[in-house]
Amino acid sequence: MPALAITDLRASYASRPVLKGITLSVGTAEIVSVIGPSGSGKSTLLRVLVGLLRPDSGEVVVEGRRIDYASKRDIHVLRNRCAIVFQQYNLFQNMTVLDNVTIAPVKIKGRKRQEVEEEAQALLRKVGLADKLRAYPDELSGGQQQRVAIARALALRPEFLLLDEVTSALDPELVNDVLDTIRLLAADGMTMLIVSHEMSFVRELSTKIVLMADGLVVEEGAPADLFERPQTARAQEFIGKILRH
Ligand SMILES: Nc1ncnc2c1ncn2[C@@H]1O[C@H](COP(=O)(O)OP(=O)(O)O)[C@@H](O)[C@H]1O
Ligand SMILES: [Mg+2]
Repeated sequence: MPALAITDLRASYASRPVLKGITLSVGTAEIVSVIGPSGSGKSTLLRVLVGLLRPDSGEVVVEGRRIDYASKRDIHVLRNRCAIVFQQYNLFQNMTVLDNVTIAPVKIKGRKRQEVEEEAQALLRKVGLADKLRAYPDELSGGQQQRVAIARALALRPEFLLLDEVTSALDPELVNDVLDTIRLLAADGMTMLIVSHEMSFVRELSTKIVLMADGLVVEEGAPADLFERPQTARAQEFIGKILRH
């Protein structure tokens, strides 16, 4: 049983279709990367998976549970299991790094502060920020802030981590530390769905790559197959363009 199974998923904004029948699955400890041109619906797919957007039709099954988007309880299940990190990290500027990481588990999940703080410290150590617990976001670089955002997502103890272009807003010299953090999580066996433009990173790390265009999955496969032997004309065109850089 895949950890996450999506079947013929359709979603729209107002009445404009954006996801036009997406089928894809993610196994436990798999790292699936979604690539594709801007506007193809990658972020929209992730928004559906964290319950921020209700799909028009299709099926989302998480750990064997079919999500009913009309049910508050199911949306809660979705939000409990899937954590997302966005390009814009949006930390609370008036709170320390440690408080940014602990606030949701303590205030929303009602967990014991001491236990959450211990866990948060371990997470911040893992992302390389053990010495920044008491710092405020504006004292950190963009890459450090993004790593706080990743620690904040992990503090929710998700089964799935969804990453939406988490390095796209960073200065080039700050990208690698964030990618190293993601590599560490991969080595820990975290199940991830990653949207990224960092092609060499995606290729090295992913168990499977899914190419989306215009609201559909164009092609999917092992990284070497998709990059070296794309089958469809659309995939050949896209891979050709990105490999020319
Ligand atoms: N909140 C929104 N309201 C209306 N249209 C949107 C919204 N967000 C995205 N779109 C449109 O949906 C399409 C897919 O967007 P998106 O999922 O962000 O693509 P990607 O992440 O692949 O670049 C685009 O045409 C975009 O303009
Ligand atoms: Mg996007």
